[in-house]
Amino acid sequence: MDQKTPIQFEELPVPAACTAECRRQKHSRKRRAFRAFGLSALLLWLGARYLRFASPMVFRDPGSPWPFPSDVTVDHCAEWSDPVETEGAEHSLYSADASLELPASADALFLISRSLHHRGGVFSTGNVNYLQSDEVTDAVKVDITAFFWREEHLAASKACLLRRGGDQTGVGIFTNWDEKRRREEHERLRLEVTVAFPRTEDNSALAINNFSSDLEIFGQTLADLSNVNFKTLSLKAALSAIRAESLFAGNATIRTSIGPIRIQSLIGETAVIGTSLGAIEGTFNSSKSLTLSTSNGAIIVEVNLFNNDEDDAAKLKLLTSNGRIESRINLESENSGSAFNITARTSHGPIDLEVVAAPLASNVTLGATTSLGSLSAKLPTTFEGMFDASTSLSSVEVKFDENAEDPSGKGRKRSLDHGKVGKASSHGHVSWSEEGKTRGSVTARSSLGPVSLEF
Ligand SMILES: *[C@@H]1O[C@H](CO)[C@@H](O)[C@H](O)[C@H]1NC(C)=O
Ligand SMILES: *[C@@H]1O[C@H](CO)[C@@H](O)[C@H](O)[C@H]1NC(C)=O
Ligand SMILES: *[C@@H]1O[C@H](CO)[C@@H](O)[C@H](O)[C@H]1NC(C)=O
Ligand SMILES: *[C@@H]1O[C@H](CO)[C@@H](O)[C@H](O)[C@H]1NC(C)=O
Ligand SMILES: *[C@@H]1O[C@H](CO)[C@@H](O)[C@H](O)[C@H]1NC(C)=O
Repeated sequence: MDQKTPIQFEELPVPAACTAECRRQKHSRKRRAFRAFGLSALLLWLGARYLRFASPMVFRDPGSPWPFPSDVTVDHCAEWSDPVETEGAEHSLYSADASLELPASADALFLISRSLHHRGGVFSTGNVNYLQSDEVTDAVKVDITAFFWREEHLAASKACLLRRGGDQTGVGIFTNWDEKRRREEHERLRLEVTVAFPRTEDNSALAINNFSSDLEIFGQTLADLSNVNFKTLSLKAALSAIRAESLFAGNATIRTSIGPIRIQSLIGETAVIGTSLGAIEGTFNSSKSLTLSTSNGAIIVEVNLFNNDEDDAAKLKLLTSNGRIESRINLESENSGSAFNITARTSHGPIDLEVVAAPLASNVTLGATTSLGSLSAKLPTTFEGMFDASTSLSSVEVKFDENAEDPSGKGRKRSLDHGKVGKASSHGHVSWSEEGKTRGSVTARSSLGPVSLEF
């Protein structure tokens, strides 16, 4: 295993020399891990039953007891190393390793996991750590460590090198374990996977054409991969969190069904990030379009959007049904024509948007809607256009800095036309010039909460 794994899964039982006291602690840590594991199993069941996420889990090739997908061919499967005992406890925990390599220059690389669906509940789970190593090679190394209590559990799992049409190479992790009774904690298998991208000779960014993962109950943790340039990156899990430090992709799709998504930094021309149950947090830089959506969870993000084309707006969508939306948005351009379209929508939760900067004379369209919740949006003094704010059962407030200086430095005076219709609705223009009055627009609607706009 690579020693440089930067972010360790907290609950992974680590092999180490241990005193009796430490063993007790580890044991209780393990119990906690497996309690969480039990909860995961419940959520998986709920997910499969009620959310009906596209579950890839049930299929069995008639010619093989292993759940190999029908569109892949198996090149070979790795041999597990001899098991070593990693910890003496009530039940001995063992580990074994296997390694496979993928060619970094392939058209497409993939990592998948498939387990047979069985009534005994979750048999295997795990975590995948992605990192960039210091090795200069053409190989993306995939190291797998299995932690298990009984050898037949190890025998019920396999890691194989796969091929799929054209020049696609991947690693598949398969488990084949069928038992109808409820599984005890010590009857499960845990897989820890490290995917190490190499570095280039001159330390320039490593180009990866297309990498995709499609994993079941594997958490995914991505270290600082800012020096790996993915043209297309797709990370998918059915049930588990996805966490990343730093990612750089042309097109990025990151999706889980149940679990939060936390990304410290993502740079992507287009990015689609989604979960059904869980929060989305992080910092995102995008130049074409960025969509962040969850059904149940908050969206708390910093966004930097870049655009140089007034006829093709950079788009930001923040969508949740149950949860708040909180975002600081920075809009940038290299030339004088730029357009941005921001949409924020939730049903149950407040919305708090702050556009901290926008280029001069840019066309900014912002639409925010919530049913139950307050809504506040703050725009920079460079914003010009119309606004329309309304609510049904609360009040609308529009704040305007009368002393704001002309951001173009021409010393113009800002004008605000402000038409108020009762307490619950307000519309008008804010602009530095006649033509600015119709440049962009802000539409803010809540049904039951107060709405506040600040220019
Ligand atoms: C990337 O590879 C996956 C399969 O591994 C494929 O489904 C997808 O279409 C590819 N994307 C692009 C843009 O080539
Ligand atoms: C991203 O995907 C879109 C549409 O699928 C494509 O037009 C665009 O070229 C892709 N961008 C990159 C950097 O691959
Ligand atoms: C994202 O954009 C902001 C604003 O331009 C910039 O300061 C930041 O460095 C960018 N992030 C990365 C990782 O390049
Ligand atoms: C902005 O984007 C939203 C959602 O994609 C779309 O419905 C709307 O028409 C766009 N607005 C403009 C002015 O392009
Ligand atoms: C601003 O963009 C919207 C759609 O993106 C468009 O309908 C509108 O005409 C643009 N305004 C100007 C002044 O270009």
